[in-house]
Amino acid sequence: MKYRNSVSNATLPYILGGILALLCACTQKGNPAPLHPHFTLSMNQLLDLIQNTPRETGVKIKDNPQQFLELLDGILHSDRELVLLVDKRHPLPKEYEPKDLVSLDSYEIRTSRPALLLRKKAAQALSQMAKEAKKEGIELLVSSAYRSFQYQSTVYKRVVQELGQEVADRESAKPGHSQHQLGTAVDFGSISDSFTGTPMERWLRTRAWEFGFSLSYPEGKEAETGYRHESWHYRFLGKDATQLEREFFFGNQQRMLEFLHIHWETLQKVHRFSSSSH
Ligand code: DAL
Ligand code: ZN
Repeated sequence: MKYRNSVSNATLPYILGGILALLCACTQKGNPAPLHPHFTLSMNQLLDLIQNTPRETGVKIKDNPQQFLELLDGILHSDRELVLLVDKRHPLPKEYEPKDLVSLDSYEIRTSRPALLLRKKAAQALSQMAKEAKKEGIELLVSSAYRSFQYQSTVYKRVVQELGQEVADRESAKPGHSQHQLGTAVDFGSISDSFTGTPMERWLRTRAWEFGFSLSYPEGKEAETGYRHESWHYRFLGKDATQLEREFFFGNQQRMLEFLHIHWETLQKVHRFSSSSH
């Protein structure tokens, strides 16, 4: 009894101090505090993940890691197909068809012909955007929306016949490679260079991102996107993605989609709410 008392009195503060020091060391080294409640990522792990992203994106993420993860959280909770990379090197299967196509005729959206189709989420967002534009005196006109693999094949062949292969490949996607097959891409107005600078184009250029729409082929980005400037072609990505694109990828949809393409599985692993079925 005497012995036990003398041990506890003399050594207790040291034992407690030791336990505390051990706990601190574990928190700092082995298991550092995560940056966001929905991710297991520490700052160092996030920095590892982004080490190959373009410099200016890396700097922005380093300065605003919570905002970056908050937007990624929204994207990971949403639908992968909304941000799927589809370009000259990343095709869709021939038989791919979106599940929830709806006719734009059921919405208050002006179209150049009847029965244009879009995925439901994109149609809803488009309808909201058209209402807002109308309040500001702009009546949006949708001229092309969902295109099946077969229909894109017809379009591509026609453009090749009209312009020759080389020019055609700068403005028309081969079947399987068009964002239009996703059911979330929209062409507005005249689908030609004369659309650039019109009130509709200017409105879309500044406001579309607020409704989750992003310009897919901006001016001066042909080397990255594979296509020349198309001022009329927008893709619905969802609001979190267009904000992420704007804030962290400086309006470069291609770079953002490439980032998500490369890191999707890793991001799912460190996201607490991703199900394994994604
Ligand atoms: N005009 C775009 C590149 C398409 O055909 O999908
Ligand atoms: Zn288009």
